[in-house]
Amino acid sequence: MLDIPPAAEALNGVKMELIDAAFPLLKGVVATTDVEEACKGVNIAVMVGGFPRKEGMERKDVMSKNVSIYKGQASALEKHAASDVKVLVVANPANTNALILKEYAPSIPEKNITCLTRLDHNRALGQISQRLNVHVGDVKNVIIWGNHSSTQYPDVNHATVGDKPVRQLVADDQWLNTEFITTVQQRGAAIIKARKLSSALSAASSACDHIRDWVLGTPKGTHVSMGVYSDGSYGIQEGLIYSFPVTCEKGEWKIVQGLKIDEFSRKKLDATAQELIEEKSLAHSCLN
Ligand code: LMR
Repeated sequence: MLDIPPAAEALNGVKMELIDAAFPLLKGVVATTDVEEACKGVNIAVMVGGFPRKEGMERKDVMSKNVSIYKGQASALEKHAASDVKVLVVANPANTNALILKEYAPSIPEKNITCLTRLDHNRALGQISQRLNVHVGDVKNVIIWGNHSSTQYPDVNHATVGDKPVRQLVADDQWLNTEFITTVQQRGAAIIKARKLSSALSAASSACDHIRDWVLGTPKGTHVSMGVYSDGSYGIQEGLIYSFPVTCEKGEWKIVQGLKIDEFSRKKLDATAQELIEEKSLAHSCLN
C-alpha cells in the first residue's frame, strides 16, 4: 500500500486493521510512502491514489493533478513491478490516467493496463434489478461503453434476465433511453452529493469484481465491462482507453465482437469517444 507522506499515519492505521481482520489469505502487508518500494515485484496493481473529486467539481478539474501522479507511478511500475503486472486504474479521470500510465510505462504490455468501469456496469445491473424487482445476480450482459464519466453509455440492448431481453421485460423504451441512462451516468455525482465523499464500498467491491474476472475468467455466456486499450473495435479510435464489453479467459480479456449497434447507440458510443479524445489532448497539454 502506497500513500503520500502526510497520510503515513493513516496508512499505518489501515495496516493495523488489515492485521486485525485476520484474513486467512493475507500473507503480509507493506505500507509505505516510497513509490519504488510499493511497486517492487507487484503482480496486480490497483491504482486508487489521486486527487479526489469534490462536490461541484468536474472530472476535468482534477486532470492536471492526477495525470502527473500517474506519470510518476508509471515509471516506478515499469522499473520495479513484475514483468506481467496487471494494472487497474480506479482514480479519476480513470481512462485517461490509465492511458498516461500506459504511455509512460512502454514496456508494460498495453493489454495489461485497464481502468475501472465495472462500477458503472454494476450500477446498471442494480438499476435494472430494482426496476424489474428481480435479483441483481439474474441480470446479465449490460454494457458500459466509453469513459467513466457522465458521457458513458450504459447499454441494455444485449442484456437479459434469464432468457428474456431486458428491453422486452422493462417494456418502456422511454425510461431505458433517458432516465436509466442518466441515473447510471450521474450515479457517482449523486453519491458524492449524498455522502459528501465519493463512492467507497461499491467502488472497492467492483474493483474486486474486475480483478477476479480478469484473473479467473468470466462465466460462460457472460460479458462484463472493462476500460481497455482500443484496437479500433466498433469504430473506436485506437489509442484510447475505452470501456468495452469483454470476456476473460486464462488471465486475458477479449473484446466481444459482432454486437449490433443501432443508430441511437452509435451516437452515444461516438460522443463518449470524443470526450476521451479531448481528455487525452488536455492530459498531454498538462504534462507538457
Ligand atoms: C464514482 O463513479 O463514484 C467515482 O468515480 C466518483 C467520481 O468522481 O465520479
